[in-house]
Amino acid sequence: MLKAGIFGTGHLGKFHLNNWKEISGIELVGFYDPNDDIAKEVSQKYQLPRFLDIDTLMDAVDIVDIVAPTTHHFALCEKAIKKGKHVFVEKPLANSMAEAQELVKLVKESDIKLQVGHVERFNPAFLAVKNIPMNPMFIEVHRLAQFNPRGTEVSVILDLMIHDIDILLSVVKSDVKSISASGVGVMTETPDIANVRIEFNNGCVANLTSSRISMKQMRKMRLFQKDAYIGIDFLNKKTEIIKLKEPQDSNVFAFDIATPSGPKTIAIANPIIPEVNAIKLELEEFRNAIINNTKTIVSEIDGMMAMDVAHQILKKIGNNSLVRG
Ligand SMILES: NC(=O)c1ccc[n+]([C@@H]2O[C@H](COP(=O)([O-])OP(=O)(O)OC[C@H]3O[C@@H](n4cnc5c(N)ncnc54)[C@H](O)[C@@H]3O)[C@@H](O)[C@H]2O)c1
Repeated sequence: MLKAGIFGTGHLGKFHLNNWKEISGIELVGFYDPNDDIAKEVSQKYQLPRFLDIDTLMDAVDIVDIVAPTTHHFALCEKAIKKGKHVFVEKPLANSMAEAQELVKLVKESDIKLQVGHVERFNPAFLAVKNIPMNPMFIEVHRLAQFNPRGTEVSVILDLMIHDIDILLSVVKSDVKSISASGVGVMTETPDIANVRIEFNNGCVANLTSSRISMKQMRKMRLFQKDAYIGIDFLNKKTEIIKLKEPQDSNVFAFDIATPSGPKTIAIANPIIPEVNAIKLELEEFRNAIINNTKTIVSEIDGMMAMDVAHQILKKIGNNSLVRG
């Protein structure tokens, strides 16, 4: 049995709490949250002991689950790693590149596992197409959300776009060649809306738009490659693949079109979406990595790489100050 403690039981921490309770091989020992009102509610509603001291809870567990605001990630991660505890930390890994690099170094010098909460890797819509050979040359991404003060301690790039940056880096197997970006701070002093063009060394171009000041929500990624179009709707958990029909493609909607090189049959497929709870799955996979001593699916290096691209974007936008005030 692995003992776990949650650090931060605000909006997302409560989801973690509920999911840890359902994961076999895990004993949830308690939580730490400096906010008395939140802590009171959590103690009463979930009947989970509140710890008033970070060290006492860390010393009592094997897994430190960090769901505190990003500005606290580094201090909590550093303490947990130095105590030899496995760490699950929400995205983004840290608040600055210096912090992220230091965490990568600390993990390397330790025997612990660290996973970053890039939960879209476990989104059923992404899982449905994960095994399809992907070699996209053009990617269009929209992640739009209504304004919410939660998360605004960092820019929209580190709050929302970083989800798509992590997915891009996991799909496009090539280094970033150049970035151009523009962004505007409307409700906060950091960019709340941004448009970014990333060119990769293999010629792939990704065009990303992220907003946290929109009237409607959208989380879509459209990937275009030589033989196919792959559409992933992270919000509505749907996928669509349009490609030239091959003999083995059965049970797909297909139609013929005339092309300069003769008639072609186009197939439209909607892959089966696995019925999974993404947060539960990411925590289960983290537990598995600890038990089996394997690499975590979203490692500290993945977390740092996504931050590196995010920070290059922020530099291009010309706003390097990540935290307000
Ligand atoms: N993966 C995702 O899709 C996703 C979604 C939302 C939030 N997040 C991330 O989760 C983290 C928390 O976000 P949230 O929306 O739950 O925020 P939140 O403000 O609702 O909750 C944060 C909680 O942490 C507590 N806290 C403050 N300082 C602390 C400390 N030093 N130690 C422990 N707890 C502390 C606060 O009192 C609060 O209860 C952020 O890093 C955010 O980026 C990730």
